[in-house]
Amino acid sequence: METKIFTIRDPQRDRAAIEAVASILRSGGLAAIPTETVYGLAADGLNPEAVASIYRAKGRPSDNPLILHVDQAERMRPLVTSIPPEAQALIDRFWPGPLTLILPKTDRVPAVTAGGLDTVAVRCPSHPIAHAIIAAAGTPLAAPSANLSGKPSPTTFRDLCDDLTGRVDALVDAGDCGIGVESTVLTLADGRPRVLRPGGVSLEALRTVLPATELDTAVLHEVSPDTHPASPGMKYKHYAPKAHVILLEGDLAGYVRYVNAHAAPGVFALCFEGEQSALAVPAVLYGLPGDPESQAHRLFAALREVDRRGARTVYARTPDREGVGLAVYNRLLRSAGFEVIEV
Ligand code: TXA
Ligand code: MG
Repeated sequence: METKIFTIRDPQRDRAAIEAVASILRSGGLAAIPTETVYGLAADGLNPEAVASIYRAKGRPSDNPLILHVDQAERMRPLVTSIPPEAQALIDRFWPGPLTLILPKTDRVPAVTAGGLDTVAVRCPSHPIAHAIIAAAGTPLAAPSANLSGKPSPTTFRDLCDDLTGRVDALVDAGDCGIGVESTVLTLADGRPRVLRPGGVSLEALRTVLPATELDTAVLHEVSPDTHPASPGMKYKHYAPKAHVILLEGDLAGYVRYVNAHAAPGVFALCFEGEQSALAVPAVLYGLPGDPESQAHRLFAALREVDRRGARTVYARTPDREGVGLAVYNRLLRSAGFEVIEV
């Protein structure tokens, strides 16, 4: 398939490109678009054939539902059976932004979009180019992260091209994504707020609006493949580079000691800026020590870089879990297949 590339940096100035991408989407095509979290692989979320082609392009299991992206909160109304006051309070505080809400769906949402569930995930991105494309398409866009299934989500145009060139109709080059990890997924489907996936909106921030917000056990614990986690995405191996990733839990001194004792060809460190000088192995850096935002921004690109550099074993520094750090920790745990060593 021929893949067109549209460079868009300004939704006003690049109006013609926005219209061209929107027209591809309206006619059932696939386009990868930027969001403030990660790049997404978008199609008309109300067109079952278009949505089916998302699953094919990504190699994604069909029971893993997609998020519908809207350009304003009003557009959520026809998609869900009702908007309870808890959802409205979160929308008022966090939309547009990296928060996805799950509610019981209406018949307007095709079964293929919802992965066969009776609920639907909806979010309103704050990225101005995403906003302009959704508005011009005039339909909610289904968009999972734009990686091939299992790989880290793309946060740079280069990583996007690596995965999807030749597999989709269009790629939008909008530079690097700001946040770097995906949206927070919160369900209100059974009336009680519960985070299924930590992300760009922190648990602490959610609890300032809904103090009773809980964290699903699958966020920090491995779920067996034959159970039915609340979020189907949690049961698949995820965010994994080809290299074998192991998370080392402990302070910097313990980390350096362990890594240097295991130095060998193909062994890499995945650590924070400034920590590499004490290490006897090559290092790939993911953000500044004690700065969860910068760690989130860099994590997925760093996980792809270790593969590019031919790493076989990667010892990763454990991030702090405050704020967006909980999302960083959750993604790293999954890329390590839950292999953690105390150092
Ligand atoms: O930041 C993001 O959320 C990005 C950008 C592109 O918007 N999108 C994204 O989509 O991360 P995806 O498909 O890679 O992850 C969506 C997650 C999956 O774990 C999926 O299982 C879960 O949300 N999900 C979607 N609909 C659901 C539903 N109805 N019930 C439970 N979990 C759902
Ligand atoms: Mg994904």
